[in-house]
Amino acid sequence: MRKKITIVGAGNVGSTCVQRIAEKGYANVVWVSAVEGLPQGKALDIQQSSAMIASDSRIIGTNSYEETADSDIVVITSGVSRKPGMSRDDLLLANMETVKRVTESIVRYSADCIIIVVSNPLDAMAQLTLHVSKFPRNRVLGQSGVLDTARFTSFLATELDVSVEDVHACVLGGHGDTMVAIPRLTTVGGIPITELLPKETVDRIVERTTKGGAEIVSLVKGASAFYAPSAAAAQMVHSIVLDKKRILPCSVFLEGEYDIDGVFVSVPVKLGANGIEQIIEIKLTPEEHAALKKSAEAVRELVDLMKLG
Ligand code: LAC
Repeated sequence: MRKKITIVGAGNVGSTCVQRIAEKGYANVVWVSAVEGLPQGKALDIQQSSAMIASDSRIIGTNSYEETADSDIVVITSGVSRKPGMSRDDLLLANMETVKRVTESIVRYSADCIIIVVSNPLDAMAQLTLHVSKFPRNRVLGQSGVLDTARFTSFLATELDVSVEDVHACVLGGHGDTMVAIPRLTTVGGIPITELLPKETVDRIVERTTKGGAEIVSLVKGASAFYAPSAAAAQMVHSIVLDKKRILPCSVFLEGEYDIDGVFVSVPVKLGANGIEQIIEIKLTPEEHAALKKSAEAVRELVDLMKLG
């Protein structure tokens, strides 16, 4: 039987997520949003493209969570995005009520689903979702590590003029200014980039990666990125639906791994049919480890503001 995937939110990220997943054809998609008519109309539009893209996915747009019942995977994209000059952290108070309400509604109808959180501030919203859902940690994860790594990968492929397929990058930590790119473990055809590029170039690309979302917000002004964020969520869905067991950096709730306890940050995980099937602890240098801990503390400060108890 075809999988059932729910996408919550009909903004730019939600819309492109539905499109990307529908185009795979391996799942039916329920698209839920509070805005009357919006998910219904957009779902119809995507459904009508199915003949051209040879997809048998059924797309249902709805304002009711009842139709999401028994979803295998749920992607939460709800909430507002940042405007120029704002950090993702500025969205905490605006988005926490929304994400809490969405999570409660999802859990009521799909107690066994895997939830992928895309709403910002990413790691804090993932932690809120875990707390409200009371799911085991293998079934709640955040999309940011995949996105940040993809940005690093694409900048490197452009800089080196090589296929993006040969670049394997590693970016860990929270989805913010403290994220931790690890050039030492970033390779091109198996060769560490530290052997291919001067340090100044690597530093410049790391800096651009860290500010990857903000650069787009400052250019587009009225909206934040959505093509790459939705592609990141879709890649995670893909690995789960096909049980591919890809090794991807995802935001996960750490319980002592990397000497970090009780907070979400991105680290490499094995992503398969059961969600997070393994958290991979790589040996970091003391500097890398200190940077990761600092990033985790930045997430913890946000989480503390939510007073989850
Ligand atoms: C970004 C936002 C969507 O990084 O988190 O573009």
